[in-house]
Amino acid sequence: MYDFTSTLVLANAARTIGITLGVLLLIVFAIAILFNMRKGRAEVGSEIELAANRRPYLDDDELETKKLDRTLGAGLVILAVIGIAFPLYWLAEPSRQTNAVEEFKDIAIRRGENTYVNGAQCASCHGPNGVGGVANYTITDPATGDYVAAVSWKAPALNTIMYRYTPEQVTLILNYGRGFSPMPAWGAPGGGPLTEQQIADVIEYLISIQIPAEESKAAVQAELDKTCAADSTGNCTVAGGSYKTLGEAVFNLGYSDSFAGGAYSCARCHTKGWSYGQAQVPGGGGFGPNLRDGSEIRQFPTADQQIAFVSAYPKAQTSYGSQGMSSGRMGSFGVNPNAVDPKTAIMSPDQVMLTQEQIAAVVAYERSL
Ligand code: HEC
Ligand code: HEC
Repeated sequence: MYDFTSTLVLANAARTIGITLGVLLLIVFAIAILFNMRKGRAEVGSEIELAANRRPYLDDDELETKKLDRTLGAGLVILAVIGIAFPLYWLAEPSRQTNAVEEFKDIAIRRGENTYVNGAQCASCHGPNGVGGVANYTITDPATGDYVAAVSWKAPALNTIMYRYTPEQVTLILNYGRGFSPMPAWGAPGGGPLTEQQIADVIEYLISIQIPAEESKAAVQAELDKTCAADSTGNCTVAGGSYKTLGEAVFNLGYSDSFAGGAYSCARCHTKGWSYGQAQVPGGGGFGPNLRDGSEIRQFPTADQQIAFVSAYPKAQTSYGSQGMSSGRMGSFGVNPNAVDPKTAIMSPDQVMLTQEQIAAVVAYERSL
């Protein structure tokens, strides 16, 4: 929460100091005028003292040695003070500026957190600190609006959202939501309730809660070990496990236990019904296109091309494969788009959703569908 009271107290203190200084200056000014007037009155008509221009001034000895030395000495001291003060100021300035930026950022993060928890209640679906969760949702017939089913829809973890999307791409998701799902539009462009500033603040908050690479990697590995401990050929060895290959297990990460709200899976976008536990044809298409029946072999003549696509997802409105056009909505799974340019990076290059081995496995699975 932004601390308004202390800001007010601070503002009041600054004003009090200002007023006190002002009053002091006025008093000094008044006293000076008083003295001047008295002095002036005393001089009128009196010739007790010689007028200033008739009084003999200091002689050459006094002027050229002592006085000159004293003046030059004072100048030197003042020069030294300036010479030291400016470099000190100059040295301190960058850190003062950085601190100011940090402070603004901290305030934005706190405002964003407030929106995440209270204002928009993102936390009620995506979990505290963005660990992922579920949303109760009523599916209706798009044509008639009739009730179809009440379901629990997985809400993906957001503590790795900056692993796969740039802040601009997240802004787009927040502005328009996902119409077919419980995720509503939040921004004004999509008719939502949040302002541009509130969306920017929520994104600052999301950036601040991204988990370290090792934590994400270990969690994915532990989940895969539960559903598919793969042997050297990539076949699953977990007895009674539902997946035959590592690729199939990666594709469906979190289906049975909603691990990370399905954030690491591909099926939540490529298999209809997957997000609410009623998965239909695997890879048959949903928010993302159908991947079956050799479509991926036609789109990407070699597996390497497909691995490159899944790893580093192309920007919106750029073409990919033989006839693909990116909508900018899938996200990168093997290269962090926020760590590509070291100068502007806000994430570290090892913060990625899946290892290259896992991506190769899931691509092999998709090509077999
Ligand atoms: C009523 C529940 C609900 C609320 C409230 C909600 N979301 Fe969502 N959100 C979802 C669901 C469900 C999805 C996944 C939709 C799908 O299946 O593609 C989602 C998807 C997302 C995605 C895309 C994630 C991805 O990897 O595809 C982002 C980002 C997101 N939400 C952020 C937010 C933020 C930020 C807020 C608060 C301003 C918020 N959501 C509020 C339910 C919700
Ligand atoms: C948030 C939803 C989403 C997730 C999660 C997702 N995809 Fe996609 N995927 C899409 C969309 C949308 C497209 C269509 C291309 C576009 O619009 O940019 C696509 C396209 C593809 C394509 C190209 C299909 C074609 O024939 O043009 C492949 C291959 C693919 N995805 C693989 C994967 C893999 C592998 C994963 C998991 C590691 C994955 N996707 C996760 C949404 C998603």
